[in-house]
Amino acid sequence: MIRFTSYHEPLLEQWKKQSAPSLQDKLPLSTFIIEHLGSPIGCILVYPLQEPFNRMCSEPTSAVVMDICLEDHIENKWEAHHLKTFLSEHVFPTYHACLVHPFKHHKLALSTYAKAGFTTLDECSSHVVMVSRKESVPNPIIILGSSRSDGNTLKAIKAVFQQRPVPLIDLRNLNLSFYDYAYKNTQDDFIPLAETMVRHNPIILATPVYWYSMSALMKTFIDRWSDLLAIRKDIGRRLTNKELYVITSYGESVPKGFEDPFSQTCEYLDMHYKGCYYFYGGDDPKENEKNAPAAFQFSELLFN
Ligand SMILES: Cc1cc2nc3c(=O)[nH]c(=O)nc-3n(C[C@H](O)[C@H](O)[C@H](O)COP(=O)(O)O)c2cc1C
Repeated sequence: MIRFTSYHEPLLEQWKKQSAPSLQDKLPLSTFIIEHLGSPIGCILVYPLQEPFNRMCSEPTSAVVMDICLEDHIENKWEAHHLKTFLSEHVFPTYHACLVHPFKHHKLALSTYAKAGFTTLDECSSHVVMVSRKESVPNPIIILGSSRSDGNTLKAIKAVFQQRPVPLIDLRNLNLSFYDYAYKNTQDDFIPLAETMVRHNPIILATPVYWYSMSALMKTFIDRWSDLLAIRKDIGRRLTNKELYVITSYGESVPKGFEDPFSQTCEYLDMHYKGCYYFYGGDDPKENEKNAPAAFQFSELLFN
């Protein structure tokens, strides 16, 4: 049975002295003793966001950094659900995001954080910086892959997002080359785009239906995700646990299996496929009427 007890000075000071002298001088916002069957087994310190973490996080004022120190023998009893409980009881009522920075070689810590819903935000030589966000605060990005920037797929995006200011990247404005087995195209715009994309969650891919499938522009972009499994695994790992939504517009009918490449890509990459908004861009007024209610339903799914 694990319990979290808010700051308990004598116990904490004694524990820091014995087990974590490196924490002596840090000034946390709040401190918790972790108790197992009534005995202290570690502590959690929650700090305001400072350099270099505030540069990595898109919401620095409402985010904190967390350090967890555990007695060695207890580490494998510390599970993802303990972390989730701590975050929901002590962090997310006040803050919207929580960062941790486990050692890269500490596989147990990395997998426990991932199971608790943390995703990788950045990496340095020795540490991985991971973030968990309060579920009700999405930080979406839209990636548009239409052959016209102001066409029906943009209308579909507007139908869903209305006045909400969400960052949008138009693939038409970028230099994206086809996947190259020799990776000789790393100087094009793909890697900077991927770095931006993985700072967000959820990811929304917006593509028209061209010949029963996603656009060639979107397909080229997704093909390049292979780079993230080969030469930029540091970015690829940051896709784990992210949510993916699709917005599409079509002129005739919804093609069979349209969502399959997206949902299966998510399965392969340990992402979560959440669904698709279909916007009818043709001339039939009856079909047009369905766009607005479906957009409302989709935005409820996205933001609630
Ligand atoms: C090359 C091309 C292929 C298309 N193929 C299909 C299709 O297979 N099924 C369909 O319902 N509409 C198809 N359409 C119609 C488009 O999906 C529809 O007009 C869409 O709203 C266009 O979005 P956009 O303005 O962002 O390009 C196609 C249009 C083009 C230009």
